[in-house]
Amino acid sequence: MEYIRLWGGQALAGEVAISGAKNSALPILAATLLCKGECLLHNCPRLTDINWAIALLQHLGCRVCREGHDIWVDSKGLCRCDLPETLMKKMRSSVFFLGPLLAKTGACDLCEPGGCCLGARPIDLHLGGLAQMGAEIRQEEDRLSCRGAKLHGAAIVLPFPSVGATENLMMAALGADSPTTIYNAAKEPEIVDLADFLQSGGAKIHGAGTKLLQIEPGLPNGAEYRIMPDRMEAATYLAAAAAAGGRIVLRDAHKKDMLPVCDVLESAGCQIQSDCDIIEFTAKPLRGCKLVRTAPYPGFPTDAQAVIMAALLRAEGLTVFEETVFASRFRHVPALRALGAQIETSGAIAVVSGVKTLSGTAMAATDLRGGAAMAVAALGAQGCSVITEIQHIQRGYEDFAQKLAGLGARIQHITEDKLWRRKKEGGSRLAEEAAVPLIAAKNGQ
Ligand code: EPZ
Repeated sequence: MEYIRLWGGQALAGEVAISGAKNSALPILAATLLCKGECLLHNCPRLTDINWAIALLQHLGCRVCREGHDIWVDSKGLCRCDLPETLMKKMRSSVFFLGPLLAKTGACDLCEPGGCCLGARPIDLHLGGLAQMGAEIRQEEDRLSCRGAKLHGAAIVLPFPSVGATENLMMAALGADSPTTIYNAAKEPEIVDLADFLQSGGAKIHGAGTKLLQIEPGLPNGAEYRIMPDRMEAATYLAAAAAAGGRIVLRDAHKKDMLPVCDVLESAGCQIQSDCDIIEFTAKPLRGCKLVRTAPYPGFPTDAQAVIMAALLRAEGLTVFEETVFASRFRHVPALRALGAQIETSGAIAVVSGVKTLSGTAMAATDLRGGAAMAVAALGAQGCSVITEIQHIQRGYEDFAQKLAGLGARIQHITEDKLWRRKKEGGSRLAEEAAVPLIAAKNGQ
């Protein structure tokens, strides 16, 4: 069992380099299927989700090489259109392969994607848009067979600005024989990054980052491209410093992509200065923020809700969180309560009443951002905490424990081999190590 062990009560200090954005690299890796030539992607984060995306590309017949944070893809060998269930279930972003495969091969066999359990996560908007473009979709239980030998352009109205549906339909539209317009498109920076990548290969896409997206037919050439910084990773380390106290500097972070998060932290009393791709953050005694309401971009991002909640557990006064994007995105709350937080939830509302102290405990990560939130809260708690089920965290945070340690946190990432070494060395330390996961189990985490 791998787990993180950390001690709170220590202010953070120093610099941390922000990695490339998971939620940009994943659709862009899928988009390489569309390209007529080779692609070279820079600043790709080293994450388990990226590993699965590479496995999907290789399964389909592409050649993929990774060196550090660079990934080279040659999709000329694309020779099949089925996405295996084992890989589909690993992450939500496996569904991003549907649009490119339909555009390039006219066919795709897949199942409902996996991903963080945040409530119902249907793909009806993806499928409805593809059907409007002429795709024939047959569904048997959670298996889907999609055929679209010749997609045609369409005027697609999204009832909700779905990030994934916007990305999938943008990619599929490049394989159509006429222009496509997407109304009420998602406007997230990751949508702009995907469009910029495709346009660097010659694709003609207008309006990325606005709610009116127009895509002209024509598959792009290969391209060399640098993935944007991960604004959610950046938000997480700002939240960690807010919770623990101290002053940190984020390198390769774009404040312009995370203004709502910075606004909340500044209204809580923290100081933020930025210049180009540097963010300087100084924690101050925190006060509650009245209302934090998640919404599609440019609103407060749902992916930052858990970590900002964790940062405000000891803020003076109340903070009300309203989660409007996902049906069930408070799964981290029981673990935060186990630390001593006062949080009342009812439906989409969570009310956080600041407490003076939190005490370390054992927790089990529930999902990607919920697991990170547990670490953020533990940094503001007295004593030792342990977080198990950290595979959730490893999906979206590169070198999570190492980066926090680099900021002065007292944190360890315990892996099997470290446990094995202690077993060989024997002694009480092993008992301490082994006891920790049991505590997590006892707490019903
Ligand atoms: C993307 O998920 C991100 N994932 C999520 O990040 C992020 O939380 C989400 O966008 C919102 O910003 C990736 O980019 C890989 P949506 P996605 O389609 O595309 C409903 C993380 O932590 N919906 O915008 O799945 C859906 O149920 C992850 O990095 C439909 O009803 O999000 C949800 O309530 C978590 N039908 C809402 O829309 C559909 O066909 C938002 O979903 C599609 C979505």
